[in-house]
Amino acid sequence: MQTILVANPKGGSGKTTLATNLAGWLAGRKQRVVLADFDPLRSATEWLARRPPLFPAIASWTPNDDRQEIKEHNPHWLVIDTPAGLHGESLRDAMRRADILLLPVSPSAFDMGATQHFLDQIREYKAVKKGEIAIGLVAMRVDPRTHSAGELDEFLNAFEFPLVAHLRATQVYVHCARDGLTVFDLPRSRAEQDWEQWRPLTRWIARQAR
Ligand SMILES: Nc1ncnc2c1ncn2[C@@H]1O[C@H](COP(=O)(O)OP(=O)(O)OP(=O)(O)O)[C@@H](O)[C@H]1O
Ligand SMILES: [Mg+2]
Repeated sequence: MQTILVANPKGGSGKTTLATNLAGWLAGRKQRVVLADFDPLRSATEWLARRPPLFPAIASWTPNDDRQEIKEHNPHWLVIDTPAGLHGESLRDAMRRADILLLPVSPSAFDMGATQHFLDQIREYKAVKKGEIAIGLVAMRVDPRTHSAGELDEFLNAFEFPLVAHLRATQVYVHCARDGLTVFDLPRSRAEQDWEQWRPLTRWIARQAR
């Protein structure tokens, strides 16, 4: 089982959007996926409850459930959505389980500031120093026509961790969140551009899978 942790302490940075879409992509590739929701607000769990039954199945898990239940699903992938403000021992504990850490970052000074602090913090973790966790940055809600998109790129490219994808700002993600869907569940006519943008991310994930 590979564990993908989606984290950024900044609220609204795009964690749940990234985690749900990633879980959906994996499920669509006939992989067994458990979406673990560490956020007490349970956004990912509620998204799964809205998911129409005919779409690729994703199992749900929260810290209130028995850990044994994850094993029973025998998943290829465990995707963990984390809450805003994750820090200290909870962050350390979540990082201990992770093979891959994905960090969504939106183009705003507040988000970039929070990301800087977060990366400064986890860089000190032994597992990160030893390179045991693959860390990928994802530029989220990008509007390439804006100045702030360029600033975000410059900011993210300065880290030693790869910038693995740019996902555009689009209502497609908002509608998917509402409907329990992912961009991969939509017809080509609505989401082709987004599939294209996800390709470098899914390729990177596949390369990290050990
Ligand atoms: N690429 C995008 N384009 C447009 N809207 C987006 C995009 N990504 C996320 N959103 C929207 O932005 C809002 C915040 O995203 P999301 O809930 O994924 O962030 P989060 O990091 O999980 O937030 P929280 O810290 O509160 O858990 C949501 O309404 C979501 O639908
Ligand atoms: Mg969330």
